[in-house]
Amino acid sequence: MPKRTNIFTTTALLAGASATNTPISLAIPQTPPQGASIPHSPSYTSFSFEPAFWVEFFGNATSPNTFTFNAINTLYQHGLRPRIRPGGITMDSMIFDPSAGNPVRTTNADGGVYRTTVGPAYYESWSNFPNGTEFISTLNFGNDSLDIARDMAVASVKYQGPHIKFFEVGNEPTNYPPSRWENSTANYIAQWQNWTAAIDLATNNASHGNWWASSATTDETPLHVRPADLIPLGIDSTQEVAQYSIHSYAFATCDPARAALATTLNILNHTGLVEYADQEIYPSAKAALDAGSQWIIGEFNSIACSGNPNVSDTFAQALWEVDTELIYAVRNASATYLHQGATLVFQSNQQSNSAGDDGSPGFSTYDMLYPISSSKRGAQRTLPGFPGLLFLAEAFAVEGTRVVALETPAGLSEDHFAGYAFYHNERLTKLALLNLTPYYANSTSDFTASFDIGSLTPRSYGRHFPRRQAKVKRLTAPHVDEKDSSKVTWAGQSFNGGVGEGNVVVEQVGKDGCVDVRGSEAVLIFFDGDGGKQWGGKGWWPWGGKGWGKAWGGGW
Ligand SMILES: *[C@@H]1O[C@H](CO)[C@@H](O)[C@H](O)[C@H]1NC(C)=O
Ligand SMILES: *[C@@H]1O[C@H](CO)[C@@H](O)[C@H](O)[C@H]1NC(C)=O
Ligand SMILES: *[C@@H]1O[C@H](CO)[C@@H](O)[C@H](O)[C@H]1NC(C)=O
Ligand SMILES: *[C@@H]1O[C@H](CO)[C@@H](O)[C@H](O)[C@H]1NC(C)=O
Ligand SMILES: *[C@@H]1O[C@H](CO)[C@@H](O)[C@H](O)[C@H]1NC(C)=O
Ligand SMILES: *[C@@H]1O[C@H](CO)[C@@H](O)[C@H](O)[C@H]1NC(C)=O
Ligand SMILES: *[C@@H]1O[C@H](CO)[C@@H](O)[C@H](O)[C@H]1NC(C)=O
Ligand SMILES: *[C@@H]1O[C@H](CO)[C@@H](O)[C@H](O)[C@H]1NC(C)=O
Ligand SMILES: *[C@@H]1O[C@H](CO)[C@@H](O)[C@H](O)[C@H]1NC(C)=O
Ligand SMILES: *[C@@H]1O[C@H](CO)[C@@H](O)[C@H](O)[C@H]1NC(C)=O
Repeated sequence: MPKRTNIFTTTALLAGASATNTPISLAIPQTPPQGASIPHSPSYTSFSFEPAFWVEFFGNATSPNTFTFNAINTLYQHGLRPRIRPGGITMDSMIFDPSAGNPVRTTNADGGVYRTTVGPAYYESWSNFPNGTEFISTLNFGNDSLDIARDMAVASVKYQGPHIKFFEVGNEPTNYPPSRWENSTANYIAQWQNWTAAIDLATNNASHGNWWASSATTDETPLHVRPADLIPLGIDSTQEVAQYSIHSYAFATCDPARAALATTLNILNHTGLVEYADQEIYPSAKAALDAGSQWIIGEFNSIACSGNPNVSDTFAQALWEVDTELIYAVRNASATYLHQGATLVFQSNQQSNSAGDDGSPGFSTYDMLYPISSSKRGAQRTLPGFPGLLFLAEAFAVEGTRVVALETPAGLSEDHFAGYAFYHNERLTKLALLNLTPYYANSTSDFTASFDIGSLTPRSYGRHFPRRQAKVKRLTAPHVDEKDSSKVTWAGQSFNGGVGEGNVVVEQVGKDGCVDVRGSEAVLIFFDGDGGKQWGGKGWWPWGGKGWGKAWGGGW
């Protein structure tokens, strides 16, 4: 074996230069350093869909929405194995009626949803997802009727039992009427434990020990039920909790004051995103991890109350997705459920978004796709955020991938740079470099930063150990405010119709070892020599090959 240790021992990220156009040399440990994240799975990027709009997104059991499923299959082909949570505010007024069919909304003229009624066909439609997809059975806590919640749990187990991974009762209890638990965390816990026990009985223990707990927002409310509040008061004394869920929305258009802050500059401010994660989310994450439990972002997106047009429906959303999910991956979230839906009229009477014509769905501008054509949002299509999910799909495609955040190299702005190293089987396998500087048509610079990764692909140790190779896939668009998905690309392809168009472009790193990243661009760098199996696939992977499909279901 050649001696190689001294080349790889640098732990700090070295800064090669102060000017961004001089290559910045990156020296990153070849094995996971102390504090590297837990091993992540290809389900790390998962989804939450507002159940009231289920039929718009997914069609029904016999006529699936092929556009949405094509898009989901594209994510799947790139390595994603998302879990599906049909959850959100409308799960708290959802009821199961054995004589009903597909989900039906009961609404007022402005599109306000009072109730969503589902029958067996709703659960049957889950079978249209890719084989192996797992679901969260979400139960109504809002109506304060154990019968309603229990009937839903029993129906979900009857129709989709083997595919249900977790159960969740109640969405964002922080927002319930204060009279419900008289602002008392203990009262909340008592009812939660009472219901989970009763539902376990009714499901013959299908739900036993498989519950999500909390599902709180980070809003300041009189009822304190974040995981950090529930854990010390013994929420898990009945050993029901499988994962602690918290919802992450750092920005909002729910009222004018917050809408003014929901800007491109702010959602791409890495410093601000990290501050929110550390101040609002991490105390609950730490409480869960210290209790020996997993924690998840059970629902999140860039801008609460359905996004901000011209911000969340632009390429900025793709960059925000990548950075936000990696921030939580480093903090050991076991999964992040990106929320999809439409404006909920009752959510806030000060919000800037509204429903569509005649109360039809006004799809959220943070959605990855508009599932049907509508007068409010135009043609059925993916949004510019979609390719960001392909970046994440490939970043986490290999089961057991661990992540480390890089320090900001000298000369780059902490607000605008984010870098992450990925490890598998104790080896550096990938590197993500994000240049979040907003780049507009009127910008006077394109803010390109050049990174020298030559030290990560050391020269040959002899003929048995040739130089490691590095290949690059790029997430880019003409400008940060691009709204046309056909101009947003991941590895050279665009995805407006939910499937790849154009040729896959995988860049070789040249002899100088340098990779340029323009303002408002991100790259995923793949190193070879990782045991090989994950490089299979139908052309998605830098090294080509076959057998990707075998990966699902295990073995590596
Ligand atoms: C994540 O988990 C790893 C492994 O247990 C640990 O070393 C690291 O400190 C954790 N990170 C955070 C931010 O909690
Ligand atoms: C399913 O959706 C199709 C297409 O919209 C519709 O024609 C059909 O009636 C629906 N089936 C049921 C049972 O609602
Ligand atoms: C789904 O997986 C099961 C079990 O592995 C298999 O029997 C079935 O044929 C698969 N279905 C499809 C549509 O691939
Ligand atoms: C559930 O609660 C909502 C909101 O309070 C109400 O509009 C709806 O009628 C209730 N549904 C049932 C079945 O009681
Ligand atoms: C709950 O807190 C709110 C806000 O502080 C307060 O108005 C309300 O009276 C409290 N309710 C109870 C039952 O304590
Ligand atoms: C739940 O509380 C009700 C009273 O509110 C009680 O009758 C019932 O036995 C409790 N169930 C469990 C499983 O604790
Ligand atoms: C459910 O689990 C509990 C706790 O482990 C156990 O006491 C009970 O017998 C189980 N019930 C069924 C129907 O399996
Ligand atoms: C980014 O956010 C931080 C912390 O909130 C703030 O201090 C800084 O000024 C922001 N940077 C930009 C470029 O807006
Ligand atoms: C979005 O930008 C377009 C073009 O720049 C403008 O016409 C439109 O009014 C903007 N929409 C909103 C909601 O600000
Ligand atoms: C540059 O364009 C952006 C997006 O259209 C706009 O918000 C900004 O005000 C422009 N800046 C200047 C200096 O004109």
